[in-house]
Amino acid sequence: MIKEITIFPGIDKNGFKEKFTYIKLKAGETVSIVGPTGSGKTAFITDIELLAQGDTSTKRRVIINGEIPTDEIRYNPSMKPIVMITQNTKCFADLTTEEFLQIHARARKIYDQKVIQATIDLANTFTGEKIKRDTRVTVLSGGQTRSLLIADAILIGAAPVILLDEIENAGIFKQEVVSLIHNTGKIVIFVTHDPVIALLTKTRIIMENGAVKNILYQNEPEIKVAQNLLELDKKIGHVREELRAGKAITYDFLSVNFA
Ligand SMILES: Nc1ncnc2c1ncn2[C@@H]1O[C@H](COP(=O)(O)OP(=O)(O)OP(=O)(O)O)[C@@H](O)[C@H]1O
Ligand SMILES: [Mg+2]
Repeated sequence: MIKEITIFPGIDKNGFKEKFTYIKLKAGETVSIVGPTGSGKTAFITDIELLAQGDTSTKRRVIINGEIPTDEIRYNPSMKPIVMITQNTKCFADLTTEEFLQIHARARKIYDQKVIQATIDLANTFTGEKIKRDTRVTVLSGGQTRSLLIADAILIGAAPVILLDEIENAGIFKQEVVSLIHNTGKIVIFVTHDPVIALLTKTRIIMENGAVKNILYQNEPEIKVAQNLLELDKKIGHVREELRAGKAITYDFLSVNFA
């Protein structure tokens, strides 16, 4: 079981050492990685997913529970304590959604069939167009695929560390993901350009030029701003869904409270 992961500094794009001593992330923590395009956000979480040992371009090292991970943990997929869902994650197996989840549940020795529908239901709270049990995973859209994999990682997967790269771009209802993820007991890391996700996470890692530039912790005013943005976001989301559904806007949506 992962209680904590610790990241030791590497180098920035110019070869200069990063300026933090170490970053320790504990089970149950939510973290966002923010910074300009190309600043090294994906590279940072990729180091975690690879459990880098100074052998990636950033030269960072990642240890688990204070110990260097064994080769088995690093290279055996069934031992891997980390799941990463990226912009390009796709399911290639020619299976229905139900079969896909069943295989994973069986591999995890979960025999209660209720978990299959629960996972599909959870995925459907994240996504607009509903996934059905008999939908083939190869035909799921990018957003549906990521929604399914996030739900799968939460309800079926054993991985205590979940890395999510820009889920907002998939049209996923992110506030559902963020609110749920606070209660999983897992370490969840969001690479994000989205202010709501960034403000809702407890820790914020700021990237620049391939290096960690700063680490900030959520403060009281930020929680208030996040709540206000969330309200605004719900309104925007509501309008987006109306437009997606092909409807016309016939009322002043900003004056309506969707809470
Ligand atoms: N410390 C580093 N040393 C050398 N190369 C790096 C370092 N950090 C990142 N890079 C490289 O810089 C490029 C951009 O990094 P990355 O893809 O992580 O950016 P990003 O912040 O995720 O950008 P985007 O917001 O566009 O997704 C990549 O090719 C990556 O391998
Ligand atoms: Mg990226």
